[in-house]
Amino acid sequence: MAASPANLNTNAYLRNLMKETVVSGIRSTGRLHLGNFFGAMQNFVRMQHEYNCFFFIADYHSLTTHPVPSDLHENVKQVLVEYLACGLNPESATIYIQSDLPETAELYLLLNMNAYVGELERVTSFKEKIRKQPENINAGLLTYPTLMAADILIHRGTKVPVGKDQEQHLEMSRTFGNRFNRMYRCELFPEPVAFNFGTQLVKIPGLDGSGKMGKSEGENNAVFLSDTPEDIRRKVMRAVTDSGPVSPNQEKPEAIKNIFALMDAVSEKETLKFFEEKYNDMSIRYGDMKKQLAEDMIRFTGPIREKIGELSRDEATLHRIARRGAEKARESASSTLSEARHAIGIRHF
Ligand code: TRP
Repeated sequence: MAASPANLNTNAYLRNLMKETVVSGIRSTGRLHLGNFFGAMQNFVRMQHEYNCFFFIADYHSLTTHPVPSDLHENVKQVLVEYLACGLNPESATIYIQSDLPETAELYLLLNMNAYVGELERVTSFKEKIRKQPENINAGLLTYPTLMAADILIHRGTKVPVGKDQEQHLEMSRTFGNRFNRMYRCELFPEPVAFNFGTQLVKIPGLDGSGKMGKSEGENNAVFLSDTPEDIRRKVMRAVTDSGPVSPNQEKPEAIKNIFALMDAVSEKETLKFFEEKYNDMSIRYGDMKKQLAEDMIRFTGPIREKIGELSRDEATLHRIARRGAEKARESASSTLSEARHAIGIRHF
């Protein structure tokens, strides 16, 4: 077939139709740090151009811990602002707030009818909750995996970018989708699988000498995208190091490896090379290296921090983006839900 402009358009349309659907939910639990940026955000930003992406803020899920209403709103706003500041584009991806999509709640109800208490009780994250907060084991916690399945299946998502800790939940999403298909003799739900764009995720260590960057390890272990230059300098200068290398070209202990890994993420190649050489010939001064690292982090996060500030003050834009996202999400969700209702036999009068 000749490639006339009309054909090209049709092809673009078909390609779009055949794009696989990516769904990921982000819990609204505080500010994003550099680890989140390199571990998730950078990937999401790239995915949005290649897949049919749905990224939502999981505020229903956060209700299991009963946040006060004003905190709930602030947290949702913070996530929205930071995701946009990192480069998620509401024109490319569908960015929405979970509670703006009541279709999810209805599908959750339908899936719960075929989710067995026994299998839900065996979920690791649930057992952990029982241990950690025995005073608040609500039904929402037990059915967390059903809600997550509804989030994914409502868009018939097939690729789900999540961390290792979500594998078991994802497995249950497959179970619930397959069970529905079997029970109602349909092929409504495809199987969602874990997905990372590209081959390897960059691991970002924390500043406390061991392990990865995370907020549960304490405020000073993580550099947040919204941290001020002063915050960053203070945290980096306090990062754990040692008394220096004692022989040329020696293997680096973990804390030192971490400082180099952070520099690898945010600094120029030459900068990293400069300090590698200084380490290897034992003339390194960690104070100088940390100063440089702090300045490079400040430079790296600067544009994001600025964007976070601007967007936080621009309620009108946030409102517009949230409304548009909800609208696009409902377009996708309503057809799935009506097929699910129909399959079950909810088609009265
Ligand atoms: N459970 C996920 C987490 O804790 C968040 C989440 C909720 C999610 N619904 C989802 C992730 C659907 C992917 C798809 O991180």
